[in-house]
Amino acid sequence: MTRHASIYGCYEIDSIPGQPQIAHCHSFFVPIDRRGLKLGHALKEHQVKTLAAELYDYATATVDASNEAQKRVLEKAGFRRLDTFTNSKTGGTTELWGRQITRG
Ligand SMILES: CC(C)(COP(=O)(O)OP(=O)(O)OC[C@H]1O[C@@H](n2cnc3c(N)ncnc32)[C@H](O)[C@@H]1OP(=O)(O)O)[C@@H](O)C(=O)NCCC(=O)NCCS
Repeated sequence: MTRHASIYGCYEIDSIPGQPQIAHCHSFFVPIDRRGLKLGHALKEHQVKTLAAELYDYATATVDASNEAQKRVLEKAGFRRLDTFTNSKTGGTTELWGRQITRG
């Protein structure tokens, strides 16, 4: 697991076991006192550049269906919703998103 940080916030990236060209992105956050300022977009852009620099081919992320801000951040960064399921851990609905990573 690798933690990355920028002035906009932090996130972590892991390779999927047995498929090192797919990255699973998680633990993404903007510091609580800086939310609502659209910094999530800049942080996601930072993450996509990291994914490209690490030569991943594809990236996934999950998001709670009620998290409209994060879904907007994913959408604007070129991720698309792949599937939705009822989460027996949270009792809510979780969405799986993904996007291809291209080398700049
Ligand atoms: C989710 C998170 C990263 C978003 O970052 P942010 O910089 O605070 O995002 P903003 O509130 O500025 O909103 C980003 C976009 O979502 C939109 N948005 C925010 N709340 C919304 C809502 N309730 N309904 C619809 N859209 C919403 C904003 O209008 C903005 O859209 P735009 O850029 O098209 O105008 C941040 O709130 C965070 O760290 N949250 C806690 C951790 C978390 O949930 N991480 C994601 C785990 S999957």
